Amino acid sequence: MELQEKILEKLNQQLNNELYAAYIYQAMGAQFEAEGLEGFASWMDAQTREELEHARKFYDYINERGGRVELEAIDKPPSDFGSPLEAFQKALEHEEMVTDKINQLVKLAREEDDYATESFLQWFVDEQVEEEESVNAIIDKLEMVGDSDSGIYLLSKELGRRE
Ligand code: FEO
Repeated sequence: MELQEKILEKLNQQLNNELYAAYIYQAMGAQFEAEGLEGFASWMDAQTREELEHARKFYDYINERGGRVELEAIDKPPSDFGSPLEAFQKALEHEEMVTDKINQLVKLAREEDDYATESFLQWFVDEQVEEEESVNAIIDKLEMVGDSDSGIYLLSKELGRRE
């Protein structure tokens, strides 16, 4: 069964959202690099790679279903996200927005009786729970650390161990 036009359009939009997410995380990483917080920067690098993989999943799925991938312009991300706490809070806000978009897509797939797309999206539903949880855990730690430079340094080091 071919992808319906409306669903194809939303899948292409989500492909763009994932690329934009990669862009945001890379911009955050660039800021952390500039600030000498290499651990946070490397966490952001890993996150950027994950987002590119997410985008690739949409790319592959659209193709598998015989749809046409349409690449749109990627918005310019901000270049300054404030303190590490503010940056991770913005990351969480962004993930919540992505969760909302994925949920809207699931709803549309259900309304259109597109069970294959619904099943494809289930991976993202689960992934979003993990993404929000991991960013939330970092926010909790940053709140504990407060303005302590040594605390931020140690936390950055800890996050830099992410594979
Ligand atoms: Fe691909 Fe972080 O959502």
